[in-house]
Amino acid sequence: MKPEVYINELYKHVGETVTLKGWLYNKRSSGKVKFLILRDGTGYLQCVVFKGNVPEEIFELADKITQETSFEVTGKVKEEQRAIGGYELDVTGLKVIGWAHNYPITPKEHGIEFLIDHRHLWVRSKKQVAILKIRHRIVKAIRDFFDERGFTLFDPPIITPNASEGTSTLFEMEYFDLGKAYLTQSGQLYAEAGAMALSKVYTFGPTFRAEKSKTRRHLTEFWMVEPEMAFYDLNDDMDLAEEFLEYIVQTVIQERAEELKILERDLTYLEKVKRPFPRVSYSEAVEILKKNNVDFEWGDDFGAPDETIISEQFDKPVMIHRYPAEVKAFYMKRDPEDERLALAVDVLAPEGYGEIIGGSQREDDLDILLQRIKEHNLPQEYFEWYLDLRRYGSVPHSGFGLGLERTVAWICGLEHIRETIPFPRMIYRNTP
Ligand code: 4AD
Ligand code: MG
Repeated sequence: MKPEVYINELYKHVGETVTLKGWLYNKRSSGKVKFLILRDGTGYLQCVVFKGNVPEEIFELADKITQETSFEVTGKVKEEQRAIGGYELDVTGLKVIGWAHNYPITPKEHGIEFLIDHRHLWVRSKKQVAILKIRHRIVKAIRDFFDERGFTLFDPPIITPNASEGTSTLFEMEYFDLGKAYLTQSGQLYAEAGAMALSKVYTFGPTFRAEKSKTRRHLTEFWMVEPEMAFYDLNDDMDLAEEFLEYIVQTVIQERAEELKILERDLTYLEKVKRPFPRVSYSEAVEILKKNNVDFEWGDDFGAPDETIISEQFDKPVMIHRYPAEVKAFYMKRDPEDERLALAVDVLAPEGYGEIIGGSQREDDLDILLQRIKEHNLPQEYFEWYLDLRRYGSVPHSGFGLGLERTVAWICGLEHIRETIPFPRMIYRNTP
């Protein structure tokens, strides 16, 4: 039943007669020859049907077969530099498996809403397939990076009793007799428990934010990878983030060159993603804004346009560190040199892609952390377990979170984050 060979294995079968299975991507015809483009998820193959070479009914079938009809095709594999993928099939047999009539997505242009409504079919398109393959390779690079450096995967819960990243973006639910529970905004607090057990851990999974804004950078459900390391300070954290981004980008350039080409991605900036990255303090970044005539007050958080202006000054990702504590999360440690500041870092991607990493050194002192929890009006009883990490062998520790979809959007050069995940969830969309 399963296919004998896939398109990406054809180089091993030149001169042989093989049978492949897949769907009709496209079709051309010129008189006595039909060119059927088969796609099978591993590539595209031009299948050539010559009128004289096949029984009449097969030639007629080749004429009738429609876009996205699934079929089985047999023929001899030929090397053909001019054909898509470099091979061609000289067809001797053709069998339809499932007809597709009036496939809604045609090679002509469609509006974005139409395409998202048909996301379950849109994922078959060439560009979408390329994006999905790059996403997968990024995920593998992320795992390889940490696995090869002595980190242990540590899976946090998705249903949680409290917020970690502020209470304004929580998805709420009733949890049996226990009252309200929330979908996790980040696995970090649990990763901290993991780091005290395993020293270096990472979490990697879906996270949720009830983002009220409709932007090209926000999803309500997105994937985040969060390393957390005992005995790391903010500098160690930044060194790791830098090495990590270089590794991901350079791996994808090497391993997914074909897909990046399909997306017509300009590699100029991506190729420059090599250590060291520029590091500027929040205060220095504010100066950059002022020099660019932005009316910005020290103490405010950067908006997307501010981030764009700052990152445009550099041709690599830029690391901004030491933000005003007021705009950052409760768990961040203050800068001993200046109590107004949190030992935080955000990494901004070049080309206007904005923040892709947020991280910090964590508050490791019991009394100060308790005070912060109170200042933020967080329910202390739900944080007792988190405070225990400071009661029993507390150590300096740090970590960061990388948003997978923003990283995919940046590396693929996409306008909008909705194309980076198979089924995007946004404020105005939870279907298909
Ligand atoms: O900066 P954030 O909120 O940091 C945290 O959640 C920390 N707990 C991470 C840590 O230190 N372990 O989110 C981290 C990253 C952002 O830089 C961004 O890439 C992504 O997660 N992100 C989103 N991506 C898509 N849609 C959203 N609504 C996102 N919110 C954050
Ligand atoms: Mg952030």
